[in-house]
Amino acid sequence: MNYDLRSWAVHKDSKHPFDTPAPHIDNGAVRPDPKRYTSPQFFHDEWEKVFAKTWLLAGPSSDVREAGDWMKFDIGVESFIVVRKQDGTLAAHYNVCSHRGSQLVVDELGSQNSFTCPFHSWQFDLDGKNIKVTDPETFRPEVLCHGLDLSSVRVEEAAGLVFIAMDENVQPLKEYLGPVLPMLETYEIDKMHVVQHRRSDWAANWKGGIDAFYESYHLHAIHPQTMGIINDRTHIDLFENGMSRQFVPFGEPNSHFDDQAAINPGIAALLADAGLDPETFQGTAAESRSAIAMAKRDRAARMGLDYDKFSDAQLTDSTIFGIFPNAQIGCHAEAVFLHRFKPHATDPEQFTYETNIMYRHIDVPGYGAPGWMGLGDDVDMTGETRPDVVHTGLGEPPGMGEVLDQDSDLLPIVQAGARSRGFRGPLWGEQEARLRHFHVHLDRWLAK
Ligand SMILES: [Fe+2]
Repeated sequence: MNYDLRSWAVHKDSKHPFDTPAPHIDNGAVRPDPKRYTSPQFFHDEWEKVFAKTWLLAGPSSDVREAGDWMKFDIGVESFIVVRKQDGTLAAHYNVCSHRGSQLVVDELGSQNSFTCPFHSWQFDLDGKNIKVTDPETFRPEVLCHGLDLSSVRVEEAAGLVFIAMDENVQPLKEYLGPVLPMLETYEIDKMHVVQHRRSDWAANWKGGIDAFYESYHLHAIHPQTMGIINDRTHIDLFENGMSRQFVPFGEPNSHFDDQAAINPGIAALLADAGLDPETFQGTAAESRSAIAMAKRDRAARMGLDYDKFSDAQLTDSTIFGIFPNAQIGCHAEAVFLHRFKPHATDPEQFTYETNIMYRHIDVPGYGAPGWMGLGDDVDMTGETRPDVVHTGLGEPPGMGEVLDQDSDLLPIVQAGARSRGFRGPLWGEQEARLRHFHVHLDRWLAK
């Protein structure tokens, strides 16, 4: 086995502990049955044996900072209310009234001391305990003995993120996240807030989304506009429980890009973002990445920011974590992207792609989010206003920039091919090692 197939010289001579490669995991070379992308039975089994058994990323802690703050988390057939209690801990309940099953909340977020069902005004406190039955004298006592409180699920927080689990016996979250947790903690997501929240329905299986976002192999074909600035020679690490990370170098051209020397307009913009003047920059395009890391380090020192905890790669690259089963977190020193691929309630060939951009406001002149993040002047970067969720339906462009539009155009085409009896299953290369790792762990859960 040539281990180098998953790792190019992304870290060069780095001695930074963050860059330490994970021990090699050999996931074999099996070609899986493509029914996993279309079969209603497979889809049903995934829900029962994976989604109902593992931790699921419900949202950022910043959305439930104060007592009474709650967020709705919808996935598949389920909806949950995650709420901060008076004692500062979280509770999570099915968004279902114990009376007739109506959903209790329909908004995305809110803050209140109790939940009142819209149907017959039954009330529940933040712990999910019933505090009011309307006209209780009209119920036989034996009916009210059946249990009036909300059904609750496990909830834990780590690295500024909230996870829920439907299985009472799930392993502790910190154990589940394993070595990925301290890596995520370096970004201090708990000090960030949501500056953009988008949700978009796509005509593909949810794993089609995972598969596309878990590799950089397709950049040259689908996103040619990135070729001047994002290298597809990445570094991949695989961890226990189906977790993974990938360093995708920003600030150097794609290996398929002809001109590795000239400072193209994309590189010039990245240099300028880091405070370097592209006009006077002496290096080549291939050398700009390390210059950007150095410039960001100097700037952070001037601003009193602790960047020693970051390796150079973390300062330039998209450092991406796969959180099994359905989340991917793209990390940058300035901001973090939470991506979730949520299965549809009933249709294996639809999913919802949801993304939050989390930003840490630092009130120092000259500090801001890199331009490529596309956070326009209309975005309140201070964290004072929580932006609304913008939801686009099937076939509508998600409005998250050109790259996402390209992916959303492509995925239904991939799904249509995956449906064919002529497709014999994916053949993953080592640039797609994270996909194989994810599917191996998916199959492990399904085999339980
Ligand atoms: Fe893509």
